[in-house]
Amino acid sequence: MKKIMIKEMPSSIGETVKIGVWLANKRSSGKIAFLQLRDGSGFVQGVIVKEEVGEELFATAKGLTQETSMYVTGVVKEDTRSSFGCELNITGIEVIQAAVDYPITPKEHGVEFLMDNRHLWLRSRKQHAIMKIRNEIIRATYEFFNNNGFVKIDPPILTGSAPEGTSELFHTKYFDEDAYLSQSGQLYMEAAAMALGKVFSFGPTFRAEKSKTRRHLIEFWMIEPEMAFVEFEENLEVQEQYVAYIVQSVLKNCKMELERLDRDTSKLENIQAPFPRISYDDAIKFLQEKGFTDITWGDDFGAPHETAIAEHYDKPVFITCYPTGIKPFYMQPHPERDDVVLCADLIAPEGYGEIIGGSERIHDFELLKQRIQEHKLDEQAYAWYLDLRKQGSVPHSGFGLGLERTVAWISGAEHVRESIPFPRLLNRLYP
Ligand code: 4AD
Ligand code: MG
Repeated sequence: MKKIMIKEMPSSIGETVKIGVWLANKRSSGKIAFLQLRDGSGFVQGVIVKEEVGEELFATAKGLTQETSMYVTGVVKEDTRSSFGCELNITGIEVIQAAVDYPITPKEHGVEFLMDNRHLWLRSRKQHAIMKIRNEIIRATYEFFNNNGFVKIDPPILTGSAPEGTSELFHTKYFDEDAYLSQSGQLYMEAAAMALGKVFSFGPTFRAEKSKTRRHLIEFWMIEPEMAFVEFEENLEVQEQYVAYIVQSVLKNCKMELERLDRDTSKLENIQAPFPRISYDDAIKFLQEKGFTDITWGDDFGAPHETAIAEHYDKPVFITCYPTGIKPFYMQPHPERDDVVLCADLIAPEGYGEIIGGSERIHDFELLKQRIQEHKLDEQAYAWYLDLRKQGSVPHSGFGLGLERTVAWISGAEHVRESIPFPRLLNRLYP
């Protein structure tokens, strides 16, 4: 007998097959039972009819508990009512392990309860769909950068330097030295861009941020491209093409998942380059005209500000040229103004906030040295980074896209805790 996965069923119509499954849910009467089956590749309905299989097997089916693992055998039937196009007419059940008191029943549960049971919650339909979308974004990311001549580079996770400021670092001992968990691979990616031209990284980053919002994780994954001979405006063009590419890839390859999440896909279809740009100066004016009295030039935006700006557009929007004082040390100054830098944050629509931070980098040795001193950074830890500005320094730019915020936005999840398998949050290191 052919052993297949649920997703392969549409090409096995009429055949008798064997599938390893878990029982997601069931419903039965005296004569017929409907088993909702899942195997990781998909969800499908199994039908078992007493008259066809006899008393004993029917009683086994009726007694199955939620999440029991088993091999089922049966005939694949076409069924146009299911999103999948087929169902399984079950003729045999071989229980592997009968689950006991599975805690996540089909009723509603509180978030903390679900988070305590994250190791099991991952099995639910909604979480399954979000993980598939996350996977598609990662796949499309590699495809986009490989198609565009980028080389994948893996920066270290244990580091001695901090690109994004020293207040949110996870400290650890490195034998007799001090080390930090990487908060961004950017500085190393800049070195790699001088070796390979166009590079990108994809890896975990860590921020000991005491923020408890729907956008903040302590451990999150970032995609960080870096490009030699690429200036500010060209950097934005790569970003809008990349973000449009991943959104369109998810629309194309995750139709079932988006449907299961009730995602309004018309909003996603519209995500095509170019994206609008608004300067920081104009964004401040816009907010003040909208009645925000809590923000003036020189302040950083909070979530309500970003949401108000994003609501004005139906695509992600770049906010460009922030004040020098609220951005990291490495950003290239504006050529005509010394109070702003050549940077941009990309704000997602629908209140999901900043998904990208990027900039042109300082390539002048003296200026970078001065900035390192102004920011009171440990000059020795940055000696190698400064050294890059003495050995054929060129204009270069890059950015970092936060994967979980992007997954949350595209899948319509309300909180980033659902867009990573095992979220690390303030006060949560379990499971
Ligand atoms: O804006 P950030 O801090 O930029 C950097 O780290 C740059 N060095 C990147 C670069 O230019 N190579 O972080 C980039 C993105 C943010 O836009 C956001 O999407 C995400 O990373 N991010 C977080 N996501 C979840 N939880 C957090 N605590 C995050 N902090 C940043
Ligand atoms: Mg940022």
